Amino acid sequence: MSEHWWRDAVIYQVYPRSFADANGDGMGDLEGIRSRIPYLAKLGVDAIWLSPFYASPQKDAGYDVSDYRAIDPRFGGLEDFDRMLETAHEAGIRLIVDLVPNHTSSEHVWFQAALAAAPGSPERERYHFRDVDPADPQTPPNNWQSIFGGPAWTRTPDGAQWYLHLFDSSQPDLNWDNAEVHEEFESVLRFWLDRGVDGFRIDVAHGMVKAPGLPDTGGDGTIEMIGTTQAPFFDQDGVHDIYRTWRPIIEEYEGDRIFVAEAWTDSAERRSLYLRPDELHQAFNFDLVLAPFGAVDFRKAIDSEIANNAGVGAPCTWVLSNHDVQRHVTRYGGGETGLARARAATQLLLSLPGVVYVYQGEELGLNEVLDLPAEVREDPSFHRTNGEQIGRDGCRVPLPWTREGVSLGFGPAGEPWLPQPADWTDLSVEAEDGVEGSTLEFYRKAIAIRKGHKATGLTWLADPGDDAFAFDNGALVAVVNFSDEPVPVEAYGEEVLLTSTPLVDGELPGGAAVWFKK
Ligand code: GLC
Repeated sequence: MSEHWWRDAVIYQVYPRSFADANGDGMGDLEGIRSRIPYLAKLGVDAIWLSPFYASPQKDAGYDVSDYRAIDPRFGGLEDFDRMLETAHEAGIRLIVDLVPNHTSSEHVWFQAALAAAPGSPERERYHFRDVDPADPQTPPNNWQSIFGGPAWTRTPDGAQWYLHLFDSSQPDLNWDNAEVHEEFESVLRFWLDRGVDGFRIDVAHGMVKAPGLPDTGGDGTIEMIGTTQAPFFDQDGVHDIYRTWRPIIEEYEGDRIFVAEAWTDSAERRSLYLRPDELHQAFNFDLVLAPFGAVDFRKAIDSEIANNAGVGAPCTWVLSNHDVQRHVTRYGGGETGLARARAATQLLLSLPGVVYVYQGEELGLNEVLDLPAEVREDPSFHRTNGEQIGRDGCRVPLPWTREGVSLGFGPAGEPWLPQPADWTDLSVEAEDGVEGSTLEFYRKAIAIRKGHKATGLTWLADPGDDAFAFDNGALVAVVNFSDEPVPVEAYGEEVLLTSTPLVDGELPGGAAVWFKK
């Protein structure tokens, strides 16, 4: 065990609407999560990161919060939250909740008050409102485009002003130059810390602060969140001042609680700035989400994360999938090949120094659902671009727990909010539980072995072949074969601790990983 649990933890992301549905309304809920804590304990994870469950009109699946201190009735109430937290803690599992400080829902009392108040009023100062130019009423104040498509500005119902929303028009951006905004979020942090949460995942942690004067971006104003380049609304230096005020707050509380940043930055160097000792504890490394499955790209991402995070004394934070990106089985080609590669990549991550995030359902080998009909899709990015961006619903389909039943055991009754593919019967927990070689048993075994073999560093060894690499992490030797051809691995060790696909005649098949005892 390292001194701090969060330096080498395995953290499991629960997406509440799609994890487990206790009341049978087709949407997951907190009681559903509580009922599945034993499953998570058996998987061996150290903590849960729970995506938003707050009161919300659900225009962006809860990332549009209308009350930061209330639970959305679709998910339960505060008592359900407390019970779930208690059950998790009893099982030795910590809980990190999601904080959404870049924007509120348009149904938040502050935004409603702002709309009811006059231009220039203190109520409007909490957001970014700008006057409409009477000579040119159709042209927004600058050229910024929403991440979800279309302009980042919408006119108020009375048509007199514009308001800024980097995401959906139902998600107005807060003005972080306003003292009340700071006070409110400090109070929200304390509300959940007092309830006993173990930390916060900060949504759009590189957002919040905008360049003074809201200048145009280069080009046509289109900026992608994923793989972003510099923009006057992302990764501004001023955002670090916010985290310097938040860190002392979390430090006041016992229990080694943490902040993890969702910060899409241009480089590992820029990301590591969020991880300075007086700021945040972890920041997701999205380089491996963006990297093609190949030794050169993976090695480059690994080296750069290790070097940059060492510079600020922060743990590396590895991730392959989450609720915003295509599931990695599908990214790696889908089918048997995609699944084999996904398992290999997971085994690799679990042997790197640092923290590993697992997205619900990847432990079952779930694929992205690519053929959801347009009418069931909910992601605003799909609707705002008329389907040009396919959106993120395909990685958010409710989990299959059993082989049979209306929602494959997701809930006791009711159609799930998104339909599950018929072949997920074979990927259900019931189908994989206790079955040697299943992806679920592979994850359980890998996480258990990792516990006894925590990486202390990383030393590259001679490559076993083209598009394959090997390293010693201080506790075991790992070999990963990204190519399609087998590579000989006998030289790396005698006793196999784990393989993602069994060795054949001393060779590691294509798209596979192996750990050897040192
Ligand atoms: C983050 C969330 C994403 C959400 C967006 C706006 O990127 O992960 O799901 O749509 O922020 O809050």
